[in-house]
Amino acid sequence: MAVYRAGVLDRAAVTDGDVLLDVGTGDGLIGFAALERVGPGGQVIFSDISAELLAECRRRADADGLLERCRFVQVGADDLRGVADRSVDVVTTRSVLIYVQRKQAAFAEFFRILRPGGRLSIFEPINRFTVMEEGDCLFGLDVAAVADLAAKLRRAYLSVGTEQDSMLNFDERDLLRWAQAAGFTALELDYRAEIEVAEPLPSTDWDVLKKTAPNPLAPTFEEALAQALTSQERDRFEEHVRAVLASGMPGRKTLATAYLRAIRP
Ligand SMILES: C[S@@+](CC[C@H](N)C(=O)[O-])C[C@H]1O[C@@H](n2cnc3c(N)ncnc32)[C@H](O)[C@@H]1O
Repeated sequence: MAVYRAGVLDRAAVTDGDVLLDVGTGDGLIGFAALERVGPGGQVIFSDISAELLAECRRRADADGLLERCRFVQVGADDLRGVADRSVDVVTTRSVLIYVQRKQAAFAEFFRILRPGGRLSIFEPINRFTVMEEGDCLFGLDVAAVADLAAKLRRAYLSVGTEQDSMLNFDERDLLRWAQAAGFTALELDYRAEIEVAEPLPSTDWDVLKKTAPNPLAPTFEEALAQALTSQERDRFEEHVRAVLASGMPGRKTLATAYLRAIRP
């Protein structure tokens, strides 16, 4: 997470005295680090749709004696009401647009609240890439020997339809297009793609692993198995997965990510 945090903040070129808005701040991964960078003369606006997460940020800011340099605004990324036009120097956001249906509207809001010369810095996973490129892998595991069942499971994950699924309905080209359409200039996109790169799995115990999901909006692996496969097929699939896990074969990740920075002219 520290790598992503630095990746977003470095690209935002945050300086002393900046007013920075972190959109979809969560528990403040970016926001609290930004407070250090804007210094005593700067301010950070923590925004999120979740009242609980904002309350958590407020508690932490209070405990650390930082409250006077913080604001907390409960709004969606696509409707930043309460934040005035041309009032901030920097907008950051990390892994939030994947939850937003009206992404073009979000970019228009980022543009509206930035002052001329203000910087936008975004990080998003490009989940559509993972779905298209995962090949012989599923859940980070080699499923070549049960490819027929893996294909059914993949279809279950795609059953929402990629155009309706906010996690899957965009890629890096769309980020550029939306930023440009909103009026941003000096766009720079850093894209990183990895296919079947060895990475430890969250667990090597299938009974634990199957209760996890590839993203918070998706079904767990167990739910997808129940939805897509007959009980006989499920047994065959689970037997294969347990054997792969027992063999000690490392997990393999397939993913793409994009950092985008841009300037409001
Ligand atoms: C994966 S977390 C990322 C949190 C934080 N940006 C970070 O880097 O750790 C996604 C965050 O987006 C927030 N969120 C989800 N939908 C949103 C929306 N439409 N507008 C603003 N925030 C949203 C969630 O409440 C959550 O805090």
